Amino acid sequence: MTRAPQPARLDAVRLPDGARALVLAPHPDDFDAIGVTMRVLQGKGCEIHLAVATTGASGVEDAFCSPPTAEAKTALREREQRESCRLFGLPEHRLRFLRLAEGEAGHPIADAANVDSIRQVLEEVVPTVVFLPHGHDTNVGHQRVYAMLRDAAREAHSGHAAPGAGSPLVAFLNRDPKTIAMRYDIVTPYGDDDAAWKAALLRAHASQHQRNLRTRGHGFDERILGMDRDTAAACGVGAPYAEVFEVEAFGDRSGRVDTSGLLPWRLPRHAPMTLRVSTPMFAGEPMNETLKTIFNRKSVRRYRADPIPKEKLELIVKAGMAAPTAVDKRPWEFVVITDRALLKKLSDALPYAKMAEKAGAAILVAGDLDRQFGGREADYWMVDCAAAAENILLAVESLGLGAVWTAVYPEKERIEAVRKLLNVPSSIVPLAFIPIGAPGGDQKPKDKWNPNQLHWNGW
Ligand SMILES: Cc1cc2nc3c(=O)[nH]c(=O)nc-3n(C[C@H](O)[C@H](O)[C@H](O)COP(=O)(O)O)c2cc1C
Repeated sequence: MTRAPQPARLDAVRLPDGARALVLAPHPDDFDAIGVTMRVLQGKGCEIHLAVATTGASGVEDAFCSPPTAEAKTALREREQRESCRLFGLPEHRLRFLRLAEGEAGHPIADAANVDSIRQVLEEVVPTVVFLPHGHDTNVGHQRVYAMLRDAAREAHSGHAAPGAGSPLVAFLNRDPKTIAMRYDIVTPYGDDDAAWKAALLRAHASQHQRNLRTRGHGFDERILGMDRDTAAACGVGAPYAEVFEVEAFGDRSGRVDTSGLLPWRLPRHAPMTLRVSTPMFAGEPMNETLKTIFNRKSVRRYRADPIPKEKLELIVKAGMAAPTAVDKRPWEFVVITDRALLKKLSDALPYAKMAEKAGAAILVAGDLDRQFGGREADYWMVDCAAAAENILLAVESLGLGAVWTAVYPEKERIEAVRKLLNVPSSIVPLAFIPIGAPGGDQKPKDKWNPNQLHWNGW
C-alpha cells in the first residue's frame, strides 16, 4: 500500500548556522498563531524577530477599551503583544511595531511608503526566512501585507540596496482561519502540552479573546486550536494539532520562483510536497463547497482572452433560472452576448462596464414587468432578477471564471442604451449586465463580516 503524500515535517529540517526568522505579522497576534513553530525554531538555535505591520486597533471593540480611541486601542494591542512575547521568551529588542499607514476598515494601504517600511525591516534583520499568513485569504490585511512583502522582496532582488540582493527571499506562508486555499508543504505537528502553552499565548490577546467569545461563542485560543486540529487531521501527521505552511520564494518581477533547490533550509530528502485545499473554519464548521464558492466570489474586472464554451454559458444561465421568485412567477429574461463587436458597443455605452470589451461573454439579466407578481406597477421583478443575478455570479465563481455585476437599472440612459443595442422590447427592463471571463488578475474576495450588523431576535 502506498502512503498518501505528506508535507515535510519542520522538526526534520536542517537549519543553516546563524539562521534568522522574521515573522511579518499583519496584526498583533499573528505571531502567536504559529507559536509552536517559532518555539521549535528557537529550540534549534534560530534567532526569532517579530515585526507587527498594523496597529490592529480596528479589531478592538469600543466596550473593551476606555477611552475607545484609536490611540488607546493601539496601545492596548501593543501591550497584549508584548505580554505574549514575554510569555514566549522573545527579547523585547526583537519586537517591532511598524504601524503602517491604514486605510478603510483599518487595513494597511499598499503604497510605496508601506512597502518601503517592510523593505527596511528586511534590510535590518536580513532574515533567512520570513513567516506570514498566506495571501490567499479573505482578510484584506493579510492580502496586502503579503503583496507588499512580495514587492519589497522584488525590489531587494533587483538590487535595490537590500543585503542579500540578487537571491530570492524565502517565505513560509501559514494557514489562518480565513485562508481560502493553500499548498501544505511544511508541517509542525504538536500535542496537548504545546496546545495548552499556545492557548495561553493566544489568550494574552485579551481583546481578541473577548471578541471571539462574544461573536463566535468560543475563545480566540479555540479558534486557532480548532484550525490546527483540522490541519493535523488533513495532513495525517498522527498528532492532535499542527501548524502548516506553504513555501514560496519571491524572485524578480517575472513573479514566483520555483522553490526546489532554493531553500536555504535543506528539506529532508524524498519529502513529498503535495497540493491540498484547506478547509477554512467558519463559525466552528469546516467550509463545504457551497460556502467556499460563496465566500470566494468577488467582482472580477480583468479577463484573459480565452473564449467561454457555449455549454458553460448555458449552465450559468440555468443556475440563474434556479433562483427563487415571488409566487414562482419567474419574470426574468436573459440575453447572452458573445459577439465581440457587440461587447465593444455595450462597453462604450455603459460608463461602468468598460471591462466588457475584454470579457469572453456577458449576460444581461432583465425583468418582464407584465409577468411579475403584482402586475405592471409592482417591484417584484427587480428582486426576482437580483436573486437570479447572484446565482449567476456564484455559478461563474464555481466554474473558475470571473464576473462582475454592472448596473443598468435604475439608470434610465443605460436602460435605453441596452434596449437599443440588444433590441429589447419596452415591457422588459434590463437590470444587470454581467461581463464574464477567465480571471486575468489576482482579485481576492473581501471579508465583509461585521457582527455589528447582525441582530438577534430584533434590533
Ligand atoms: C446593484 C449593483 C450594481 C453594481 N454596479 C457596478 C458597476 O456598474 N460597475 C462595476 O464595476 N461594479 C459594479 N458592481 C459591483 C460592486 O462594485 C461590487 O460588488 C462591490 O464593490 C463589492 O465587491 P465584491 O463584488 O468583490 O464583493 C455593482 C454591484 C451591484 C450589486
